[in-house]
Amino acid sequence: MLRAVYPGSFDPVTYGHLDIIRRSCNIVDELIVGVLNNKAKMPLFSVEERVKMLKEVTKDLQNVRIVPFAGLLVDFATRMEADVVIRGLRAITDFEYELQMSQTNNKLAPSVETMFLTTSIEYSYLSSTTVREIAAFGGDVSQFVPEAVAVELKKKMSTKGECNNEQPH
Ligand code: PNS
Repeated sequence: MLRAVYPGSFDPVTYGHLDIIRRSCNIVDELIVGVLNNKAKMPLFSVEERVKMLKEVTKDLQNVRIVPFAGLLVDFATRMEADVVIRGLRAITDFEYELQMSQTNNKLAPSVETMFLTTSIEYSYLSSTTVREIAAFGGDVSQFVPEAVAVELKKKMSTKGECNNEQPH
């Protein structure tokens, strides 16, 4: 029984993340998608919203669980009794940060190994940050995120717009 944790912010989940999730599901027996609950990062979507979207877009996958976490990744991975942590590598620019993170995690908890999957070439340019920016300016995100996420982004941007338009009292 091989269990893996795939951690991230998923703010919001993109087709790039989904690609890693689907491919990981073919390798491991159980995949736990760990959704970081870190208010200091000021996410666009609350952790509950991110979990909900991830559940929706992975509902056809039998061996996936979506679990929020706070604190250290190694503690979460240990608690989940995961054999391995999975991370996606897009371009060389990801490498330095990912190497540092995996080596730090391995120092903190030597039993926690990190496995990297290279992102499929069609998603190598894609990031949640870019998706949020496109959505903020009213652009079409349908090639980057599943329909359910595009709908939530639209809703979120319109409510943010309403807040921004509020006049000071
Ligand atoms: O999707 P992201 O934002 O690239 O994911 C980053 C994540 C969640 C994997 C990373 O920030 C993380 O593991 N945070 C938990 C805190 C922690 O363990 N920090 C030490 C790692 S060096």
